[in-house]
Amino acid sequence: MTIRLGDTAPDFTAETTEGEIRFHEWLGHGWGVLFSHPKDFTPVCTTELGEVAKLKREFAARGTKVIGLSVDPLDAHARWSKDIEETQGTAPNFPMIADPDKKVADLYGMIHPNANDTATVRSVFVVGPDKKVKLTLTYPASTGRNFDEILRVIDSLQLTAKYQVATPANWKQGDDVIIVPAVTDEQAKEKFPGGWKALKPYLRFVKQPKS
Ligand code: BEZ
Repeated sequence: MTIRLGDTAPDFTAETTEGEIRFHEWLGHGWGVLFSHPKDFTPVCTTELGEVAKLKREFAARGTKVIGLSVDPLDAHARWSKDIEETQGTAPNFPMIADPDKKVADLYGMIHPNANDTATVRSVFVVGPDKKVKLTLTYPASTGRNFDEILRVIDSLQLTAKYQVATPANWKQGDDVIIVPAVTDEQAKEKFPGGWKALKPYLRFVKQPKS
């Protein structure tokens, strides 16, 4: 199944390290990140899960819940968790889906058979409060993800959901943003009374609105 931006994130029920979860119910009214890692007891995944655990406060500050997935069973997740704590300094502090029958992995198209027909690739789905998919990322097994980038995208998604702005290349919190083309200069005068800087009629930079 191909999941595209704007699709409703498929709902599912799954066993996790924090008990059975119904995905939409678990998301509640906030934001969510669902990410897969290829296999338990693998080196890159070990570093990723430790990193996400360390970023717990950053995700919480953005009203965002995180849930991991691998196609290994719960008992393997539990044993691996101890290794993650030992080597990365923090055990996973978010639920990890055990998906040995690949039910969720197939639902989200996380298995790319021409890359590997048994393990998942490194997928990321960011889901908004409306349960729509706002971001998809796919990394190969050999490349660990940059979770600061995922936080940065969430910042952009949350800002642009609230204001009629878009964020330029390499934008980060506090940088100027772009007034979207759908907003005319007349409308912009009302929305951005502090003014903006137009490099071209279609390229208008404005201070980041306070979120
Ligand atoms: C890893 O997490 O280290 C890994 C997993 C599958 C293939 C290659 C690396």
